Amino acid sequence: MTARTSDIEKAAGVLRTGGLVAFPTETVYGLGANAEDPAAVSRIFQVKGRPPSHPLIVHIGGAEHLDDWVEDVPATARLLAERFWPGPLTLVLRRGPRVPLEATGGLQTVAVRVPDHPVALGLLATFGGGVTAPSANRFGQVSPTTANHVRAELGDAVDFVLDGGPCQVGVESTIVDTTGEIPSILRPGGVTREALEAVLGCPLAVHSTSRIRVPGQHPSHYAPRARVVLVEPEKVVAEAEFAQELGHRVGVFLPPSLTGTPVKAHAVVTVPGSMAAYAHGLYGFLRELDRQGCDLIIASLPVEEGLGLAIANRLRRAAGPRSTA
Ligand code: TXA
Ligand code: MG
Repeated sequence: MTARTSDIEKAAGVLRTGGLVAFPTETVYGLGANAEDPAAVSRIFQVKGRPPSHPLIVHIGGAEHLDDWVEDVPATARLLAERFWPGPLTLVLRRGPRVPLEATGGLQTVAVRVPDHPVALGLLATFGGGVTAPSANRFGQVSPTTANHVRAELGDAVDFVLDGGPCQVGVESTIVDTTGEIPSILRPGGVTREALEAVLGCPLAVHSTSRIRVPGQHPSHYAPRARVVLVEPEKVVAEAEFAQELGHRVGVFLPPSLTGTPVKAHAVVTVPGSMAAYAHGLYGFLRELDRQGCDLIIASLPVEEGLGLAIANRLRRAAGPRSTA
């Protein structure tokens, strides 16, 4: 599904007058504001319930606009931008004066990406500026991968929802910090570590606990309402049936190797064998088990290669301790 030109024009108008627009990208839906309008940017934090110290991503229409937003772009960042944009890669670079501190949580660095979605690119071209956007969910919740997820979660708090159909990739962009001497991955995502390493010709560290404020690194991020418990794949069925007998309403992520195995549980999702299909469906599966009233989800981790690294990262965070802060 592609949004109509008139919808894109309406959305661009909303951004110009300081409003908030939810829009599709290839990863997840974003909650966008004019990156150069500090008041509009601040509203994003209110609507999401996100602490203002947590930086946002500035979405731009093409790599040729990069130097309008950042300074001192290292050669590695240029190489990655050339190779992976438009696409699910976010680069952390030194902030240029056009980016207000509201968008960076006060940091002197800024995260930038060019989304690979015709509606997002249409919006960016029509609007003409940068659009700062986090995922269009409330802080700590599962990211939306359809326009209906956004409407259900944010409703009237958003001025306009651009519907571009379901997001193809399904997990957020990979964030690479290129401000240090060697680049490192701050969040695994839609561009695999292997693909980045092949282009850079060197191994990349994954900093899952960085000093940099990355909200995706809070233990309980990407969490559905149901509690998520991770077990070994061969224990999924037994653990699920045990918890169901104890009176839980159990949702099961049945590993692909066990497809067709009967499970006495409240709801069962059979995990796709392809990591691309799993990433595409992941947040929808979590939402669906919530919708069916599960209070406990039993799942296992995929092999942490390719997109499996990002999927395992999100499942771990969904299973992490819930903060009351
Ligand atoms: O795929 C995506 O990246 C989606 C779509 C909408 O583009 N966006 C997204 O935004 O996931 P959000 O706000 O949910 O996550 C952005 C991440 C956060 O973990 C944030 O901390 C990190 O980017 N980030 C932003 N600016 C940063 C900076 N200057 N240094 C380090 N991390 C930064
Ligand atoms: Mg998010």
